[in-house]
Amino acid sequence: MRKVPFFDYPRLFNDEKEQLLEIINQVGSRGAFILQSDNKAFETKLAQYTESNYAVGVGNATDGLELSWMAVGLEKGDEVILSSHTMLATASAVVTAGGTPVPVDIGYDRLIDPEAIEAAITPRTVGISPTQLNGRTCDMERIMKIANKHKLAVVEDAAQALGSSFKGKNAGTFGLAGSFSFFPAKVLGALGDAGGVVTNDSEIYEKLYQLHDHGRDTEGNTKSWGRNSRLDNLQAAILNKKFETYDQVIARRRKIASIYDERLKHVEQLRLPNAPGTQEDHFDVFQNYEFEAESRDELRSHLSNNGIGTLIQWGGKGVHQWEALGFNLTLPEVEKFFERCLMLPMNMFISDDDVHYICDQITTFYEKK
Ligand SMILES: Cc1ncc(COP(=O)(O)O)c(C=O)c1O
Repeated sequence: MRKVPFFDYPRLFNDEKEQLLEIINQVGSRGAFILQSDNKAFETKLAQYTESNYAVGVGNATDGLELSWMAVGLEKGDEVILSSHTMLATASAVVTAGGTPVPVDIGYDRLIDPEAIEAAITPRTVGISPTQLNGRTCDMERIMKIANKHKLAVVEDAAQALGSSFKGKNAGTFGLAGSFSFFPAKVLGALGDAGGVVTNDSEIYEKLYQLHDHGRDTEGNTKSWGRNSRLDNLQAAILNKKFETYDQVIARRRKIASIYDERLKHVEQLRLPNAPGTQEDHFDVFQNYEFEAESRDELRSHLSNNGIGTLIQWGGKGVHQWEALGFNLTLPEVEKFFERCLMLPMNMFISDDDVHYICDQITTFYEKK
């Protein structure tokens, strides 16, 4: 039987073993481990790629979000509105920075609903943290209009969206700061934890820089309290190499999404994401291929029995549905969504034949029902 794992972690290393060992050898021989030239080069590349004024390499995207909120100056009781369909990290970063996360419902596009944002604004609201989910940027025009009207800070969770854009403007660059993840399974994936924050605001940049390196500025002078969340220089060197082919990686993912769309769009039991190129305002990088399916759990078992790995994002619940976190909310669209959502394999290791095999299995499943 053909096997298509959801994500083949060993291949991340094994497919490029020679090149990666060469980088480790090179960086190791230079003793270039912390805040070295590879890190600087990566920050420059990240800023250029996203068309931002500044970028800071950090330990991971969660830290990037937390440090961004600290740089904004979140205080106890300050509320930040975010989608309940996001990784807990978007919310936990608000908590660890001292604020209160306010999860809201998703709209028709499954991203944060701008109307729900407006409805959740209280005198304590200070910010919005939209998640650019699955490699797709929200309608940031509407969100920035709300933010500007109510004088709210925007920190984008762009962990899944490097290279994605809305109306030609890149994810991560609409608000005060945007945080990207380079977790191994991300479109740009390191061999461990890694992240980066971009900003166009020089004050936020200075604060972010200090916060991520014990309060020191770029000259090494201590200016404030801080902590340690530096991007590992070895990971930066690996990311620099991977950045060279990043646009090809995005093109391949969009091709896979097009095949899924072409093969599955007639299956009436499914609701698919928008196919690449079908909406003028959006350029999506397809971090994930997440869709909604009738009889989702049965479909998932059928795919698993036929060697196909799938995933339900975030362990199958929205942020507000985790009882241990103490939310007392009902968000109907998110709750319905988590009964139907599923992610199919979407990565550089799958062939066109694999994608067709997955689609064959899905169509067979619904034909037999
Ligand atoms: C939407 C979203 N936010 C935040 C994160 C956290 O990223 P990291 O693992 O780099 O901290 C992730 C990673 O999976 C994510 O997908």
